[in-house]
Amino acid sequence: MKLKINFTLILSIVLAMTVVAAAFTFFQIASETASLREELKERTARIADVYSRTQLVHLLQEDSTGLKRFSDSISKDYRLLGIAVYYNKDSIITPDTSIRPLVSFSLDYIALALTADSAIGNFKKSGEKSFYQYIRPIKRTDIPNEALVFYTDASYIDRIISNIWFRNFFRWFAQVLIISFVTILVIRWGIIGPLNKIVLWLREAATGNLDKLKQRPPTNFLAPLHKEIVHIAKTVREARAIAEEEALLRSNAEAVWTPERLRIEVSNLLHEKKMVVVSNREPYMHIHAGREIKCIVPASGMITAMEPILKACGGLWIAAGMGDADRETVDKHDKILVPPEQPEYTLRRLWLTKEEEDHFYYGFSNEGLWPLCHIAHTRPVFRKEDWDYYKKVNQDFARAVIREIEAEEQPLILIQDYHFALLPELIRNERPDAKIAIFWHIPWPNAESFGICPWQRDILKGMLGADLIGFHTQFHCNNFLETVNTALESRVQWENYAVRIGDATTMVKPFPISIDFTLKDYDKPSVKTDFSRLLADYGATCKFMGIGVDRIDYTKGIIEKFLAIERFLEKYPAYVGKFTFVQVGAPSRTLLKTYADTVSAVEKEADRINWRFKNRNWKPILLLKRHHSHEEITPFYESADLCMVTSLHDGMNLVAKEFIARRGNNDGVLILSRFAGASQELKGALVVNPYDIEKMADAIKQALEMPDEEQQQRMQKMRQSLVENNIFSWAAHLLRTLTSIYR
Ligand code: G6P
Repeated sequence: MKLKINFTLILSIVLAMTVVAAAFTFFQIASETASLREELKERTARIADVYSRTQLVHLLQEDSTGLKRFSDSISKDYRLLGIAVYYNKDSIITPDTSIRPLVSFSLDYIALALTADSAIGNFKKSGEKSFYQYIRPIKRTDIPNEALVFYTDASYIDRIISNIWFRNFFRWFAQVLIISFVTILVIRWGIIGPLNKIVLWLREAATGNLDKLKQRPPTNFLAPLHKEIVHIAKTVREARAIAEEEALLRSNAEAVWTPERLRIEVSNLLHEKKMVVVSNREPYMHIHAGREIKCIVPASGMITAMEPILKACGGLWIAAGMGDADRETVDKHDKILVPPEQPEYTLRRLWLTKEEEDHFYYGFSNEGLWPLCHIAHTRPVFRKEDWDYYKKVNQDFARAVIREIEAEEQPLILIQDYHFALLPELIRNERPDAKIAIFWHIPWPNAESFGICPWQRDILKGMLGADLIGFHTQFHCNNFLETVNTALESRVQWENYAVRIGDATTMVKPFPISIDFTLKDYDKPSVKTDFSRLLADYGATCKFMGIGVDRIDYTKGIIEKFLAIERFLEKYPAYVGKFTFVQVGAPSRTLLKTYADTVSAVEKEADRINWRFKNRNWKPILLLKRHHSHEEITPFYESADLCMVTSLHDGMNLVAKEFIARRGNNDGVLILSRFAGASQELKGALVVNPYDIEKMADAIKQALEMPDEEQQQRMQKMRQSLVENNIFSWAAHLLRTLTSIYR
């Protein structure tokens, strides 16, 4: 390509120069020839004049020798070849033998000059010889047809012209050589060089490679172009980043849900209809702290899950106001906009009397249904009085909901958990047009276990007032359907997991609940804090750290966890003095004996194990027994080597998911109970049986010694699954299902 450009350019230059040189030479030769000939003509005429005047008489008086002498005397100076005399017809004399061959050329012209009676001259060639003949008639009365013929040498004109040709050719050739050479240099250094540079710049601009571009600074005259190309590179880079993000979003469109996408989905599904969430536990609780009022987020998996949905979509959340400063912070309709720092939805608080709290919340909900549904070997207690209060509080909440949806057509009611098993039917009775779902956040036991509840039929019928009943796992759905099959006159449609009673159908489906975890969080690296800094406030330090976060509840297997830590230190004493397990434990339902006992058992067990192993600066278990905010827990999640979730029975367990969400560097290991719903999803965890202390001890060792690569593989897998199954996808699937059901 480069060669072709060079050749074409040089050929064009040579051609142009040839044309110019040839034209110039022709012009020069024409004018030079003309002027030389003119000069020769004049000179010859002048000789003729002189000769005519001075020599004629002499010539005629003497003989031809006079003529010869004359011609010899001037021939050198005037390039005269010779003179001839024409006397009359066909009679020419000349003393110069050298010109005799020329005489024959003259006859026709002599006749012409004599006829015209005027001198004429012309150039002739004889062989190699060029000459000029000048014929002048002589006016004499005695000899009427007489003329003198002068012959001058014109060959020198040919020589001069040849010289001009030669000189011009040589000049042309030298010019062609020099100009071609200079052109090649100019092309190479002045054009091809910068062009190559520009091509490289453009290539880097096309890939958005700004750094490389900056490494190739421009020569002065290309600086403006370089500036433009850098600008293009920036634009390309930005456009590419946007395109990549869009492509990522597109490719994840089916998999990844965001708050924005959910908001659009909900507005499409609801068509301006009202969404009401009902739960016992409120998402924000106001409590007195000294003279101030503090707002806290209670420790509850249900709240962790539901709060981001309300934040994204707005709506109304009705819950029991249980904080001691709750009444002081609501308006006259018992409502408050939350979150306090950036209000997105309305919280409506309902007030429970002390008796209601005792019997409905502590009694039937937490001493009856909670241990009934969790197989943790704590015996449920069913009291008639508790049941009556349970019914009453459900009715009160139903009334409150009905009042809130009075002006709404086909409102959407999302009921949360085991505190409100009767609510679906109570609302349905008043508002057949409402779309109602109840989500059971805890496990559902098998039919036999559930059958011990004296009011199981009322509970089931109450729940079946909903269009949709959701559990975390298919296993819990199956248990529920079995229970219905056993306890009620109904038709269980196993093929589509639905229950039909009379004309009404209720769908029973699994929706594994999750947390707020989007691509944005997925890409965020975690910030590690030194263990010594994390534990400084507690006067402790360690080399390896584990973390556990639980409400202090007998279902969470905290004692079993501690026993496993003890066994681990026994079996692997190299870790004594090095491994500390931080257990964040939020006291919960402590008015109940079982819970108070659990708190003291947990404390006692921690103390016992610590006493056995501890030294001056180190202890194996750090029990942080108080409510902690998410902000306080996050550095522990981000920095720990492992997290232990050892529930004896758990609906899902969102602590497991929160730990994974905080592992932006894809390291760390999750030890997870096989009896938590989360174990069905989080396949990268080390799954354990919390009753098997020996194996749990080994799992701790395995986690601490797991190669980095394996940790990365497991964590990445779990984080990918988490981003695809976040709380927004949970809500979208539940709402899509609910709005598509026609009873
Ligand atoms: C579980 C239940 C929630 C409950 C939470 C905390 O996660 O499913 O409904 O809110 O425990 O219990 P608490 O009794 O303090 O509300």
